[in-house]
Amino acid sequence: MLFAGSSHQALAKELAKDLQVHLGNVLIESFPDGEIGVQILENVRGKDVFLLQSAARHPNHFLMELLILADAFKRASARTIVAVMPYFPYARQDRKDKGRVPITAKLVANLLEKAGVTRLLTMDLHTEQIQGFFDIPVDHLYARPVFIKALKGLGIKEAVVVSPDIGSNKMARKFAEELKVDIAIVDKRRISAEKIEVNALIGDVKGKVAILVDDICSTGKTLEVAARVCRGQGAQKVIAVITHALFMGGPPLEGIDQLFISDSIAPLPGVKTPKVQVVSIAPLFAQAIECVIEAKSISSLFKN
Ligand code: R5P
Repeated sequence: MLFAGSSHQALAKELAKDLQVHLGNVLIESFPDGEIGVQILENVRGKDVFLLQSAARHPNHFLMELLILADAFKRASARTIVAVMPYFPYARQDRKDKGRVPITAKLVANLLEKAGVTRLLTMDLHTEQIQGFFDIPVDHLYARPVFIKALKGLGIKEAVVVSPDIGSNKMARKFAEELKVDIAIVDKRRISAEKIEVNALIGDVKGKVAILVDDICSTGKTLEVAARVCRGQGAQKVIAVITHALFMGGPPLEGIDQLFISDSIAPLPGVKTPKVQVVSIAPLFAQAIECVIEAKSISSLFKN
């Protein structure tokens, strides 16, 4: 049975359509003091429940809503509860890189398990090792195949995939391998949440179409700075590919000719323009859910 929290109704409906199931009835309300109350309006006893929530832009609210829903399904005797989280929140704090800081990705993993989640289905985690924070199975999907299809459709002659920071290197390398082009890396240093410093660009972008790939775009600073560096080094055009488009200040457009984003997070109203294209990850999630139900390989979805 498929249910959804309130974070991304459009994706929930598309997923239900692709899976040819109805979207389960659930009542979600807010009490006057802001507490969340839910009631599942269908019998779920002994059922395998897939619960969609993309805890983005209001991560605290949507995460809490997901935990409360999972608790309700657990107490209603669902057989399994699969948290379907196209965007996994709090993933960027995934290690203690200085003293006295939390590891929020691990905290979220603990909370989900404690609430009753028995499996996680997610996409383009900020770092793959977050999977190891869970003691339940984690199925990790990649938006790459849908983006590659869109990029191939552009018929670009000479391209180079550019990682806007060292952290996105692995993701960029996979894109480069599949597009059969070279890779370049921007050496970015984050000074604060708002300020970024770039030291160098490793690789050759001169005269080429630079394809910047990143998992998350929040303020857009990383992309804008990387685009500027690519242009400064002679790139003829800059395309950006982003899985999780938070776009907290709107889409970054400075120096970027074309932007491809996924709908792992509900696209901002009016964001779709000829310059910003949205690719749907619903069919991929639908296929992955079918694989979970039929105990089939999910990694085979990513073989070329
Ligand atoms: C960081 O390591 C991520 O991969 C993104 O590069 C980062 O979250 C982007 O943030 P912003 O858009 O605020 O520069």
